[in-house]
Amino acid sequence: MHNLSEKNRAIADMFSSIAPTYDSLNHYLSFNIDKLWRKKAVSLLEGDSALDVATGTCDAAIEAHKKISKVVGVDLSFGMLQFGKKKIKGQNIGLVCASAENLPFKDEVFDNVIIAFGIRNIPDKISALYEFKRVLKKGGRLVILEFNKPIYKSFGAMYNFYSSKLLPFVGKIISKNDDAYSYLPDSIQHFPDVEFLKSMMIRVGFSDVFYMPLTFGISFIHSGIKK
Ligand SMILES: C[S@@+](CC[C@H](N)C(=O)[O-])C[C@H]1O[C@@H](n2cnc3c(N)ncnc32)[C@H](O)[C@@H]1O
Repeated sequence: MHNLSEKNRAIADMFSSIAPTYDSLNHYLSFNIDKLWRKKAVSLLEGDSALDVATGTCDAAIEAHKKISKVVGVDLSFGMLQFGKKKIKGQNIGLVCASAENLPFKDEVFDNVIIAFGIRNIPDKISALYEFKRVLKKGGRLVILEFNKPIYKSFGAMYNFYSSKLLPFVGKIISKNDDAYSYLPDSIQHFPDVEFLKSMMIRVGFSDVFYMPLTFGISFIHSGIKK
C-alpha cells in the first residue's frame, strides 16, 4: 500500500493487534446492538453493488450481501481482513487491503458506499469523502454509520461512564491491548458533531444529505446521494 500516513499505519497496527477479539468484544460491549445498527444502515442500500469501506472483519459487508449481489470490502488492516476472510467464505464478497483516502477503484463503479464505525479513524475525512463520491455512480448512495455523542444529557452522563471507564477496562483485559479501547472514547470525543459531518458531506458535493440517531444518539446514520 502506498501513501499511508504515520497515523494510518498506527491505526492499521492497532486494529490488527485487536483483530482476534474484535468481533466478540464488539458484540458483548454493545449488547449486540451493533448488529441492529448495521442492519438499519444496510436497509438504505439499493442497486446491485456496494463498497464497504473500513470493512474490518466484514460484518457490514456480510449484512449488505443479503440484499446486494456484488459487495467489495476494503480495509487498511490486513489483520482485520484475515478474520473477515474466514467469515465470508463461499460468498460473492471481494476483499482489498487499501486506505479509504486512496481507493484502488475506477470512477463511478458502485451503487453504494457504506462505512460502519470507520470514518472516525480516518485522519483526512474530506479526502475520504471525495474518494467515496468518486467511486459512486451518479445517483449512488453513501451511508455512514458512526458513534457520536448521545443527544440526551442524563443518558450521556451514564454512557460517558460506560465508554470512558468500563469499556476501556474490559477491553484492555480481553484484547490485551493497553490503548485500543481507550482510543474509542477519545476518538468519539474528537469526532465532528453530526451537523459538522453533514456540512462536510454537502461541501464535498453530496445531495439529499440527512442524519438519524440510533439508540439515543449513541450512533448516527448519515446518508447522501452523489449528484
Ligand atoms: C471499528 S472497525 C470497524 C469495522 C467494521 N466496519 C465493523 O462494522 O465492525 C474500524 C476499521 O477501520 C479500518 N480503518 C481505519 N482507518 C482506515 C482507513 N484510513 N482506510 C481504510 N480502513 C481504515 C480499521 O483497520 C478497522 O478495521
